[in-house]
Amino acid sequence: MAKKVLVTEKLAEAGLARMRERGLEADVKLKMSTEELIATIPDYDALIVRSATHVTREVIEAGKKLRIIGRAGVGVDNVDVDAATEAGVIVCNAPTSNIVSAAEQTMCLLLACARNTAQANASMHAGEWSRGKFCGSELYEKTLAIFGLGRIGGLVAERARAFGMHLVGYDPYCSPERAEQLGVALYDNMEDILPLADFITVHLPKTEETIGMFGPDQYAAMKDGVILVNVARGGIYNVDSLADFLAAGKIAACGIDVFETEPCTESPLHEFPNAILTPHLGAYTREAQTRAGVQIAEYVAAGLEGSVVPTA
Ligand code: MLT
Repeated sequence: MAKKVLVTEKLAEAGLARMRERGLEADVKLKMSTEELIATIPDYDALIVRSATHVTREVIEAGKKLRIIGRAGVGVDNVDVDAATEAGVIVCNAPTSNIVSAAEQTMCLLLACARNTAQANASMHAGEWSRGKFCGSELYEKTLAIFGLGRIGGLVAERARAFGMHLVGYDPYCSPERAEQLGVALYDNMEDILPLADFITVHLPKTEETIGMFGPDQYAAMKDGVILVNVARGGIYNVDSLADFLAAGKIAACGIDVFETEPCTESPLHEFPNAILTPHLGAYTREAQTRAGVQIAEYVAAGLEGSVVPTA
């Protein structure tokens, strides 16, 4: 009998096709509540999710046949990995599927913040021709601080170098050799970087250490007029005090793609035109979605066939 894969969020057609080619039965059931998922999961050998499904301990324990959980994307913070490990269920992700898209979204927000693109667009649509209030600043020869020099942070460094930016970085797991290769001056202490940066971007996972890593003390230590971007995970910047520092003009603008609770339709940032907000679009390109769908389909199929799968 064909092994059954439950897919609870929209997955690229190519990914579904790949599973069917590998002899799997892939059922797509969208927008399930946790209770529905708990009631449904016992029939399935594998589960594929993106970021909206919370794969809790209860879900995993209900999955009596469950062998593998695939995350069609990078972050696995919506999966209880400890519970899965205890239950002997593999958790895998598609670690390189969307890194280019995330790096490009970072550059997009850096540029949009520096050049007031969103505000100018809103003004044009309101029938205005107003140039004076939208004078921007160049990225060229500015200092960009990159927190997190993993795959995405590294791609951001490459792109920022092409804009002629000076790069500083903080990442306790990055070797001096890699930092040198990326052209990033590596610092051991995040506090030393804050006063240097004209722009700051974070490329860190959501962990107990990273949530709230930037709050009032860190904002106060930054350069006047700094621009902040977050395409990683909501909560790394404390948003309440970020709004206070935007209001005070200490932070000139921010580009925020991710929120502590998603979907997010209101936040202290929503009232600021210089807070450029996007609804978690970092990985949301046709190319990245196709790559994520196919990569995760391959891993899930391999896992169900008993092959070794790189775990998340
Ligand atoms: C990821 O972790 O892959 C990205 O944040 C995109 C997503 O959550 O779908």
